[in-house]
Amino acid sequence: MNKSTTTRKPQHLAYKLGIMIGLIGLIVLLLPAYDRFHVRGPMNSGHDTLKCGSCHQDAPGSLRQQIQANLRYALGLREHLADFGHQDVTNENCLDCHERPNDRHPVYRFLEPRFLKARKNLSPQHCVSCHTEHKGQRVTRTEIGYCVNCHKKTRLRKDPLDVPHDRLIALNQWESCLGCHDFHGNHIMKTKKTVEQIIPAEKIRSYFQGGASPYGDDRHYKAKKEANDD
Ligand code: HEC
Ligand code: HEC
Ligand code: HEC
Ligand code: HEC
Ligand code: HEC
Repeated sequence: MNKSTTTRKPQHLAYKLGIMIGLIGLIVLLLPAYDRFHVRGPMNSGHDTLKCGSCHQDAPGSLRQQIQANLRYALGLREHLADFGHQDVTNENCLDCHERPNDRHPVYRFLEPRFLKARKNLSPQHCVSCHTEHKGQRVTRTEIGYCVNCHKKTRLRKDPLDVPHDRLIALNQWESCLGCHDFHGNHIMKTKKTVEQIIPAEKIRSYFQGGASPYGDDRHYKAKKEANDD
């Protein structure tokens, strides 16, 4: 047995393995760039005719710069992965077309310190927390009692309801809220005053999935069809 070949062989293997791991790493880094070219699933309600580019904007820098930045990240020379091919979709993208000065729950408000716990539970400061795209739905957050995160202390001085708000809250009737109120306040409607008139949860869930609106069709603001037509 030749001693030198038995020692060289494993070294040779380790060298090859090193190259392979490096290549796999590179492929994994490059994959998202290819992924972007495939549609992810059915567009949400009302979005069928939108161009991909109205939400997915090109990331800064050339492709070569993006690859370099991500290689630096892989080597530990950079703190964050660089956006690859496209930037993340942000509130600004949505607001380009959905800006509504009357929104009763505008996302920016929830950056205030007092909403720290609510941010942990449901990230209400991002549109996509409740409206994930490419799901073929209208509202993707299925649970409807999340008002509990912020309205435990809601009490009206002259409550018009047959069962007043503080009573509903004491009884943990959190699924009742969306039965009388929409979330953004964009529907033109008369808010009901008796618990008998509360919209059943199934109707709200079916609206979330793309069905008819239980709040009627009249709205203060309609969305723009192009991100840049003012
Ligand atoms: C209304 C806005 C909107 C439109 C229009 C849109 N997307 Fe998206 N897309 C999103 C959001 C939000 C995500 C979630 C990931 C994110 O935040 O970047 C996403 C994710 C993706 C992903 C997964 C990428 C990843 O980082 O996981 C692909 C691929 C994609 N979209 C392709 C497309 C294509 C192709 C079109 C055009 C047919 C399109 N999208 C149109 C909003 C949109
Ligand atoms: C290029 C413009 C544009 C962009 C960008 C855009 N939307 Fe829309 N959106 C529309 C249009 C147009 C409709 C359908 C008409 C309407 O409902 O007013 C719509 C419909 C919707 C609906 C359903 C409304 C309904 O009553 O059926 C939701 C929810 C929605 N968009 C959320 C979002 C979110 C969240 C984003 C960001 C990820 C976004 N949109 C980005 C134009 C846009
Ligand atoms: C905490 C959850 C949540 C967040 C965050 C959220 N939405 Fe909604 N959204 C809802 C719910 C619930 C409904 C259905 C009730 C209603 O129609 O108001 C809805 C309905 C809508 C509708 C259709 C009704 C209408 O108002 O015309 C649009 C459009 C919409 N959202 C856009 C947005 C945009 C844009 C953002 C970010 C700026 C956003 N939403 C953030 C929960 C959310
Ligand atoms: C992340 C916190 C948060 C969540 C979650 C939340 N709200 Fe609110 N809501 C607020 C704040 C803040 C106001 C503004 C009033 C204030 O300053 O106290 C408000 C106001 C309202 C108003 C009164 C609007 C007006 O014009 O006077 C209604 C109605 C309402 N919310 C209903 C709901 C319903 C229904 C839900 C659940 C689907 C919900 N809210 C979930 C924080 C929240
Ligand atoms: C039976 C219908 C009904 C139900 C259920 C209901 N509300 Fe109301 N809510 C009203 C009416 C009516 C008002 C009076 C103001 C108006 O007309 O919008 C009101 C007002 C409010 C206000 C505004 C308070 C102010 O200072 O002006 C908030 C916040 C609110 N509701 C939150 C909630 C929450 C949270 C729930 C769930 C626990 C809930 N509501 C359940 C009908 C309802």
